[in-house]
Amino acid sequence: MSRAKASPAIDVARARAETPGCAEVVHFNNAGAALMPRPVIDAVKSHIDLEARIGGYEAEDQMRGRLDEIYRSIAWMLNCEPEEIALVENATIGWNTAFHSLPLRPGDRVLTAMAEYASNFLNFLHAAKRLGVVVEPVPNDESGQLDTEALESMIDDRVKLIAITHVPTNSGLVNPAVEVGRIAREHNIPYLLDACQSVGQMKIDVKQIGCDMLSATGRKFLRGPRGTGFLYIRESILEKLDPPWLDLRSAKWVDPDRYELAPGARRFENWEFNVAALLGLGSAVEYALGWGLDAIETYVGAYAARLREELQAIPGVSLRDIGARQCGIVTFRVRGKAEEIAAVLGVEGINVSVSVANSTLLDMRARGLENVVRAGVHYYNDQADAERFLAVIRRLAAET
Ligand SMILES: Cc1ncc(COP(=O)(O)O)c(C=O)c1O
Repeated sequence: MSRAKASPAIDVARARAETPGCAEVVHFNNAGAALMPRPVIDAVKSHIDLEARIGGYEAEDQMRGRLDEIYRSIAWMLNCEPEEIALVENATIGWNTAFHSLPLRPGDRVLTAMAEYASNFLNFLHAAKRLGVVVEPVPNDESGQLDTEALESMIDDRVKLIAITHVPTNSGLVNPAVEVGRIAREHNIPYLLDACQSVGQMKIDVKQIGCDMLSATGRKFLRGPRGTGFLYIRESILEKLDPPWLDLRSAKWVDPDRYELAPGARRFENWEFNVAALLGLGSAVEYALGWGLDAIETYVGAYAARLREELQAIPGVSLRDIGARQCGIVTFRVRGKAEEIAAVLGVEGINVSVSVANSTLLDMRARGLENVVRAGVHYYNDQADAERFLAVIRRLAAET
């Protein structure tokens, strides 16, 4: 690959030196789970050691101040208040908690995107079955992103939620989240953004986007441990939401017949946490902020664009990314194949994943796709990683 234009702010050699996994594999599975950097690994391991030495509850008490900082770091990253953040086990739990807190009634309309994630859409279908809610996907424009004019034309008094995915699981598309936010604000409709795949690879500013709720995971582009996530709930929407369940962290049992909800977004949390993993999440957020989300976005975007150019030039490779704006996820097939390609890459020590049709059924059906290879790149991927990857793809394209 010809030299990718690296942002001057990213010192790739340092990023690699701080990422032990870079010595083992070419990791292009950052949309699955990224390689953790040294500070994240250390935070998790040292807390496990502390728990082993002094006890789990006692270790948590000792780290109380540090745990409080995690809310501040996430709030800083998203441009919101720490009280608007709930720490959760994964993006799906966060998204579900927000979605099922909305007072949806029979006949209410929910507008979503074509590339909506399976777990979200399953819950739309569940709400349609249980509550009589009507779910309607907004069509894409000719570039493949959500058509904001179509969205605007679909709005009426019955629309009670706009819920879209920012970066879908199966392509490099970045949906126009800010424009959707403008429409949601104008019509005063709650707006839930699934930012699971965008957080950590680009700057996310909830004030600029105008969303009321946002869910994210720790393990993908943020480079945190598995089993971590967070939920942003705008303070002003709090009173419209009714948590679907409570526990003794999200509420206080004050009288035999009475409880009080925890303040702010904490009412969406559970009492039991994997504290070591959360400490790792905090380190991951601070580590990303240390590089700068703008710098990460520039590097990742340029690297992915170069990779697409090189793939495009290989006969037999078909790129599958859509949308006017694309990010660090590169999707493709080689002579119509995906699973076989990912398997061979794996044998060669190159990690990618395969997105299958039922993870984003509407979009994949509309494009007649069964599956795609998904290469999610990051700022620790260097020139040599790309060369190794492209060499295998060239060989496979010539063979198959
Ligand atoms: C767009 C999108 N939303 C949500 C999720 C679910 O995230 P989690 O596994 O952390 O619940 C994924 C996971 O791949 C995803 O791609």
